[in-house]
Amino acid sequence: MSAFPATRLRRLRRTAVLRDLVRETSLSVDDLVMPLFVAPEALPNERLPGMARHTVYSVVQECEELLRLGVKSVILFGLPDGKDEEGSGAWVEDGVIQRALRALRARFPELLLMTDVCLCEYTSHGHCGVVNASGDVDNDASIDLIVRTAVSHVEAGADVVCPSDMMDGRVGAMREQLPDTPIIAYSAKYASAFYGPFREVADSAPEFGDRRGYQMDPGNVREALRECEQDIAEGADMIMIKPALPYLDVIRAARDRFDLPLGAYNVSGEYAMVKAAAAAGDLDERVAAIECLTAIRRAGADLVFTYWAKEFASWR
Ligand code: PBG
Repeated sequence: MSAFPATRLRRLRRTAVLRDLVRETSLSVDDLVMPLFVAPEALPNERLPGMARHTVYSVVQECEELLRLGVKSVILFGLPDGKDEEGSGAWVEDGVIQRALRALRARFPELLLMTDVCLCEYTSHGHCGVVNASGDVDNDASIDLIVRTAVSHVEAGADVVCPSDMMDGRVGAMREQLPDTPIIAYSAKYASAFYGPFREVADSAPEFGDRRGYQMDPGNVREALRECEQDIAEGADMIMIKPALPYLDVIRAARDRFDLPLGAYNVSGEYAMVKAAAAAGDLDERVAAIECLTAIRRAGADLVFTYWAKEFASWR
């Protein structure tokens, strides 16, 4: 191995073309999934434009624009008309997501339609499963409802279902009912403060307690790999780590251990942090966003769920 002065690493940084040629990590709109919120009423979001609420009607227009910009994959989140203890709005045939899926499926056969499968936006208590008499989120009772939700999404036109509830065994139960549907498991989903803006927009904050009884402890990485292992054994086609930026080591560990396609969710708080810093004049949003997304890809993610997907596509 030769050293300085024979070796000068700056030689390959001299021009943009050289840097493009030797860059180890690529970032393309093909790698990105745009989250979309579908609600009974629209609610634009000036501060966080990627987190607006759409109606079934306006989400169709939004997808038309996304496709025009080159964004070909979306993940849908729903806000129901009303909430109840069991989150029935998640699986009813005329639920907001089911109606959105039918409208989008008919209009855009080429658009990849993913859905988030969870009960928290639909339950009156805001937890991701059903709550039993002792006030605990009941794992096995929740699975039935979560599977029912996934099946209703597929019947309405979803291409891919993404369970985000963190109940044990939900991927296997879903796989049994949906032998031909790709499942992207939110495998290692941490109990994170970075979901704050999402819970405002999706109206899904828990009414009591928190999610630490089912989402993962931020201190753990070996446990994250066990979560991934379980989901793979149960039939997941892809695994996902969430959040992304504070958990790049977890993404790397999962990449090194498993050969399935790996996703990462660049969550609402990560997006909001950069937006707030940019609005304060502390950094350049475009450069910072591209740096964040590149870092997530460099850590090992193949696909990134990000509220920047649309803005990213329009920047190029
Ligand atoms: C549903 C769900 C959440 C997010 C994705 N799916 C919220 C939560 O677990 O509280 C968060 C996404 C984000 O913050 O961007 N369970």
